[in-house]
Amino acid sequence: MAAAGSAVGLGNIWKFPYIAGENGGAAFLVVYLICVLLLGLPLVMTEFLIGKHSGKSAYGAFKELKGTNRWQWLSWMCMLTAMLFIGFYFVVTGWCFNYLFEALTNVLHGAEMDSLSTHFTQVISNKPRMILFSLFPVLLTATVLWFGVNKGIEKLSKVLMPLLLVMMVLMAVRVLMLKDSAIGMQFFFQADFSKLNPQAVMKAMGQCFFSLSIGMGALITYGAYMPKNQSVSKTSMQVVILDTLVAILAGMIIFPAVFAFGMDPAEGPELVFVILPAIFEQMSFSYIFGVLFFSLLCIAAITSTISIMEVSVAFVNEATGGRLNRHKSVLLVSAAVIPLVLACVFSNSVFDVFDTLTSCVLMPLGALGMALFVGWNLPNYNHFAGKVFIFSVRWIVPIAILVIFLNSVGIIQ
Ligand code: TRP
Repeated sequence: MAAAGSAVGLGNIWKFPYIAGENGGAAFLVVYLICVLLLGLPLVMTEFLIGKHSGKSAYGAFKELKGTNRWQWLSWMCMLTAMLFIGFYFVVTGWCFNYLFEALTNVLHGAEMDSLSTHFTQVISNKPRMILFSLFPVLLTATVLWFGVNKGIEKLSKVLMPLLLVMMVLMAVRVLMLKDSAIGMQFFFQADFSKLNPQAVMKAMGQCFFSLSIGMGALITYGAYMPKNQSVSKTSMQVVILDTLVAILAGMIIFPAVFAFGMDPAEGPELVFVILPAIFEQMSFSYIFGVLFFSLLCIAAITSTISIMEVSVAFVNEATGGRLNRHKSVLLVSAAVIPLVLACVFSNSVFDVFDTLTSCVLMPLGALGMALFVGWNLPNYNHFAGKVFIFSVRWIVPIAILVIFLNSVGIIQ
């Protein structure tokens, strides 16, 4: 459940709808689902296996399993990816906290569609406010990590993830009753592949890594905490199914509403922040619903930031041979994270570079490295499913990642 908490986050509710909206809706969904099955599932298993077998975090795992330093570059890349990723992720988490605050103070009540859109622009250009709202989740995450990733997070995820799911189902039902919602459903489920280009396929792959928390060793760390009798394949499947369900539900909420309210699905990153408040306006008990939903969204974001920052904390702790204990590692990593977050608050281009560089370059590379590591270094299994898995991480996953990557930069057609 903690891993599911890591996977379910802004990737599902904020990023998936807007990227799908920009890339043709249903066609993107199809490619995304293929990526999840072909790459996502085996890669979640790969990271869990590395963690469970080594009992170490991304820093020590490869060395522990292989006995050499030859794979150490992969550890460093995980660390680099995690730091850049968290820089912009905290900013989006800050947007969520801002909207939670506004839901609590009820300032958006009665707002029109147009003013919701300008409101978003105003919010993110108010720098002092954004600094406050982005650094607050940093503090919250650091506090949780100070006490350690333990049963607490799992308990939290166990109650709150299903609650989030139930709320999203209710919202989807309400949205489906809006006029013209069918156009949105068609947009999301009736594929028109002519809109698909190589960049869209790359984005679908990046989105799959983003959403399933793969490519930077976060799940290695969680795998290391797994009890020995827990099944890697079963856990992986549960995480993948839950995560994908939440993303699809988010699409089923956002797109019908987009068309019912006469908006453009290719609106960009502000899409859900404009649409969600407008949906709550249409619902009975709108105040309670808005507050509850944004609370859950913030919690979903925090269970994700915890897993991302834990990568760096465990890394520093292991890399210094424990000389920097958990508390000192948390302080050091937080101090390093703050300037990165500020850079993303102040510059949209830094934000974009961090986002694109991690999803489309660093996470695919990290995943490629880990697939090859497991495929060519761990002993093959003697049952069929295990053999399929090893074949997939030896050949299918690396080749697919390379082909999609080279295709998107135009090296192969
Ligand atoms: N999966 C999370 C989301 O969808 C983000 C996330 C958390 C993540 N931990 C990660 C992404 C580790 C990559 C690696 O929002």
